[in-house]
Amino acid sequence: MTNLYEEAYAKSMNDPDAFWGEAAEDCHWYKKWDKVLDDSNKPFYRWFTGGICNTCYNALDLHVENGRGDQDALIYDSPVTDTIKKYTYRELRDEVAKFAGVLANQGVTKGDRVIIYMPMIAEAAIAMLACARLGAIHSVVFGGFAAKELATRIEDAKPKVMVSASCGIEVKKVIAYKPLLDEAIKLSSSKPEKCVILQRPMETASMIDGRDVDWKEAMAAAQPHDCVPVAATDPLYILYTSGTTGQPKGVVRDNGGHMVALKWTMKAIYDVDAGDVYWAASDVGWVVGHSYIVYGPLFKGCTTILFEGKPVGTPDAGVFWRVISQHGVRSLFTAPTAFRAIKRDDPKGELIKKYDLSNFKYLFLAGERSDPDTIQWSERNLKVPVIDHWWQTETGWAIAANCMGLHQFPVIYGSPTKAAPGWNLQAVDAECNQMPPGEIGALVVKLPLPPGTLPTLYKADERYKEAYLEEFPGYYKTADAGYIDENGYAYVMSRTDDIINVAGHRLSTGAMEEVLADHPDVAECAVLGVEDSLKGQIPVGFLVLNAGVDRPHDDITKEVVQMVRDRIGPVAAFKTATVVKRLPKTRSGKILRGTIQKIADNKDYKVPATIDDPTILGEIEDALNTIGLAGSRS
Ligand code: COA
Ligand code: AMP
Repeated sequence: MTNLYEEAYAKSMNDPDAFWGEAAEDCHWYKKWDKVLDDSNKPFYRWFTGGICNTCYNALDLHVENGRGDQDALIYDSPVTDTIKKYTYRELRDEVAKFAGVLANQGVTKGDRVIIYMPMIAEAAIAMLACARLGAIHSVVFGGFAAKELATRIEDAKPKVMVSASCGIEVKKVIAYKPLLDEAIKLSSSKPEKCVILQRPMETASMIDGRDVDWKEAMAAAQPHDCVPVAATDPLYILYTSGTTGQPKGVVRDNGGHMVALKWTMKAIYDVDAGDVYWAASDVGWVVGHSYIVYGPLFKGCTTILFEGKPVGTPDAGVFWRVISQHGVRSLFTAPTAFRAIKRDDPKGELIKKYDLSNFKYLFLAGERSDPDTIQWSERNLKVPVIDHWWQTETGWAIAANCMGLHQFPVIYGSPTKAAPGWNLQAVDAECNQMPPGEIGALVVKLPLPPGTLPTLYKADERYKEAYLEEFPGYYKTADAGYIDENGYAYVMSRTDDIINVAGHRLSTGAMEEVLADHPDVAECAVLGVEDSLKGQIPVGFLVLNAGVDRPHDDITKEVVQMVRDRIGPVAAFKTATVVKRLPKTRSGKILRGTIQKIADNKDYKVPATIDDPTILGEIEDALNTIGLAGSRS
């Protein structure tokens, strides 16, 4: 007998038009699509071509019209400012419509780009939804990035308007955002015409006459703006993510496929219904924030929580339980690193006992591999299913998950369970032959990808093909390696490129190497992600200095640490670098990263046959010892 998951999976593979066409009936369309899947321009696939819709209408207005106007749509819970503010669907629609009016007054129309650089405040979601309302394309940039990273995104997206706030709050530190915004605009050759700035009480930003607009004043003067119908295939947003160079990739998301897929996932994967309270403890700057703080829960008619705080320190490791119990959260989604931080501060889970968690039904984890310890600790203390699921900025939703609304498979630690409906996931070798069950290969997805995934990169069709489609023709390359076992469980083991995952944040070591290489004393460098018990991985830099440099190594390493902070941002968590005489290389000159990594991670390694000089490995070990890495870590 088949279960609901198997039925859904089979249908999504055998008849994707029927499967996704049915899911699309759950959304509002001004005009229905001509084609569900449009494969007329392979390898570019489009979903719901001919359809006309509006994402904001589906997220807000539809619910008000269907009787949910008085239900909470969004709860802003901010332990760092001691604020809880609730918006009903009607109130949120009205605020968003007003802010759409503000943007329209600054000249924003359909297709214009708007960069949003904001902390975790309700206004960030309001700005996103207002762009969607106008058919403008938003690009949210995470607040922990430095001005230079923001500048790269301004250069690429060429926004007409930027939206920001005077500051963010990191536990107790007030981080001024406006100077970073001003600096980024200075660095970029493309200049936004206007910047709408929300002044927060803890920091007043200085405004530039003629360019900067005060959020509150503009709201007071604006008229609400209606939803603008857009093509299903029009872009809703661009989200830049780390690529293998310093140039981030502008992942594009469309309107139609996105709303269909995300709304469907709310029940199928997360088992939530309209009216339920759903909380993704992430940041609107990341894909999880886009999909599951803002769009998914609102499409479904849930109450979403927007949390401005950290899992620990705001004020303590009990804050997640306080939020869950106070707002009646059914489902929490966060990164394993958050739970490792909680576990570290409250190993016995004593704080959990202080709260009534009776509404709480599921914990979902993603963003990095979930270690069995963290899953077991959570299961033991929370007594709810702990569900690991695997996805990427590019995919917008889970490639593999235990789909709680369809069928609950037994949890196997270390596996995000099975490919979700819509995903023809395979492990293949370099020639694209399917690997036998249990054997590691490249994890790839047979095209077409389901709706809600990236149709291309912003203004970079060629780069899209080159980065994702060319290595395995007919397949999307996830750039993760792993295997699928005989029961169809997927195991995601490691990245096949230079991406590392630091506290659930995706970073490119290549981008950090570009920064280090700019230091005048550095001849050569390598950055590796080494294991860390809290953050999963942390970047560590290895520097080879130019001949004749006799400055203290400490000064140089401090300088490169500061350079990464200034150019990429504090989020890179780049705090450790060490000077080595040489880097171990193959005879053909390739740096033996895998071997350095194993030494740093205290793993057994074989001296590679291709190494040009094996004695260098001992030097690397010594260098790691001096910074407290090799041999000394648990
Ligand atoms: N604006 C400005 N600075 C920011 C920032 C933001 N939005 N977010 C992070 N930073 C800064 C931090 O202040 C910190 O700076 P510091 O070096 O001066 O201390 C640095 O970036 C690193 O921050 P973070 O990665 O948050 O590390 P942390 O040590 O402060 O906290 C955790 C560790 C585990 C508690 C935290 O990383 C966390 O909550 N992670 C969850 C991750 C997550 O939600 N991922 C999304 C995918 S689901
Ligand atoms: P991001 O684009 O920031 O969401 O990062 C995506 C990458 O994070 C993936 O390609 C994986 O390498 C990693 N990742 C995300 N979720 C998981 C998971 N559940 N298990 C293992 N790795 C994961």
